[in-house]
Amino acid sequence: MSTKGRPEGELRRSAQRKGTPVSAPESDPPQRHAGRRRALRGLVALPFTAWLPSSALRAATDDSPCTVGNGARRALLIPEDRGYLGRLAPRGAPLTLVAAPTGSLPAGVTHGPFAYRVRHRGRDYVNPTLVLEPGERVRITLANRLDAPTIAHWHGLAVDTANDGNGSMLVAAGTRYVYDFVVRDRGALYWYHPHPHGSTARQTYDGLYGLIDVEDDDQRALRRALDLVPGRTELTLVLQDRHGSAAYRPTAAELTHGLFGDDMLVNGIACPYLDVASRLYRLRVLNACNARTLRVAFTTAAGARVPFTIVGNDGGLLPAPVTVQDAFVATAERLDVLVDLRDAPVGEAVMMASLAFDPMHAEVGEPAPVDHASMGHGGASPDASSAGATGHAHGAAWPEGAPRRLMELRVRTRVRYDRTVPVTLAPLAPIDVTAARERPFRLGYNKGRWRINDRVFVMGETPVEAARDTTEIWLLRNYHTSMPHAMHLHGFHMEVLERETSPDFVAALGIDDRGRVASDLGRKDTLLVWPGESVRVAIRFALPWPEPQTYVFHCHNLEHEDGGMMVGVRVA
Ligand code: C2O
Ligand code: CU
Ligand code: CU
Repeated sequence: MSTKGRPEGELRRSAQRKGTPVSAPESDPPQRHAGRRRALRGLVALPFTAWLPSSALRAATDDSPCTVGNGARRALLIPEDRGYLGRLAPRGAPLTLVAAPTGSLPAGVTHGPFAYRVRHRGRDYVNPTLVLEPGERVRITLANRLDAPTIAHWHGLAVDTANDGNGSMLVAAGTRYVYDFVVRDRGALYWYHPHPHGSTARQTYDGLYGLIDVEDDDQRALRRALDLVPGRTELTLVLQDRHGSAAYRPTAAELTHGLFGDDMLVNGIACPYLDVASRLYRLRVLNACNARTLRVAFTTAAGARVPFTIVGNDGGLLPAPVTVQDAFVATAERLDVLVDLRDAPVGEAVMMASLAFDPMHAEVGEPAPVDHASMGHGGASPDASSAGATGHAHGAAWPEGAPRRLMELRVRTRVRYDRTVPVTLAPLAPIDVTAARERPFRLGYNKGRWRINDRVFVMGETPVEAARDTTEIWLLRNYHTSMPHAMHLHGFHMEVLERETSPDFVAALGIDDRGRVASDLGRKDTLLVWPGESVRVAIRFALPWPEPQTYVFHCHNLEHEDGGMMVGVRVA
């Protein structure tokens, strides 16, 4: 570890955060040594009684209640074995996904005008959660009953070009496309959504998306160790911000910055509640927003911060759990967390919220001067207004970075729970980068377009050519005069090597001397790069198919992607 030249406070902080973070919730007596606990945050999960009061958090969330129509609240919709988001395990059997008008939905669900509908073994599903296993053959027919071409992309799965659905092939309205591939990936929460270039934002926003839960031995071991049952104590949460159920109608500003909806839906319900018992819960979050980054945290009704433990991300389980106070999750990223409520009193309410942060929309070349006062910064909380120093919202009622309550966990029953979080979760060897070549990417805005290496996407061109079975280090540099970009690579996973020159509030979340944040560990398929930041990632271009394959690397802010912030990648 190199800490030379760091200010003392910085050194102390990184020293505290070093080591293998483990959770040992009942190893400490509750309610003592509050100062020491504060010093140890980031290392161990804390018992409920040690939750830290945070007036900053109170300020950040109190003025952002769950605003839901007439104020009536609804329970979280939990995916069942059918219906909306229902869990569907094909186990090799062929499946037909029909992209079609949404049709009927459960009461209280807000959804766009379209959905993937499936009828399988006598059960009807809407945007099913596909439950798969490594090695499983997947045969899916996509039937397009939209009035426009489409294609589905299996986000995060390493498949060949013909099955990747990256937009180079489209399914015309009224026709079908057959996917046939084998799952080669680790257990993780992946997802699927349309990818027709120029219409990806519209079709995804309009309601076409679903989860893919790949289950492997590591995932099963974690469930066993913590007594987790999908649909009961392990919950998948799809977050999407929308303007009600209306179809996609972006403004000119939204086409530049991304669409930011007013309503935040969790599995289709705005700010739902879930009645829980005094035990540990696993929440597996997908950010399915077109553009919005969230800063996820948990807090009690009294404003005390509840630490939580990150166990996984886009690429599956981290090598070891990391306990944090909050974590960013950008569009298309996944965050897999444990929330320990074993010491929570019956009657307690724990809020999952998105905290205030500076969204850093700092790009130049705006079409018109930006009037911040008219964009909702006026009456915001002190937190939000200081956070919004360089942020602007282009008229959004809920500007990016403004705080919002997402979901409420209501502790209703007391149960005995004595499991401990395993010290290691999944073996994962680092990618060997000794022979790696480095390839630079610059992310920026010019002449009205977001660009990668100063270029916009041209279908059929592959400016990035990598040799099969080689390893590369990609250096992703975002200009200061830019926005955060959630960069996604098809076909291969990335290992984050380091973050440099991060904004202070991102650097403060660093957990090692390489500037990485907790959710950078393990493997990633989507990665947020902040303005001014440089991120190095390692990629192993292993290719099991004899023919060359082409993929894309793009920003997953879907308006940026559709606007051309994408580059073709050929691996030969
Ligand atoms: Cu989630 Cu290229 O996509
Ligand atoms: Cu802007
Ligand atoms: Cu972007």
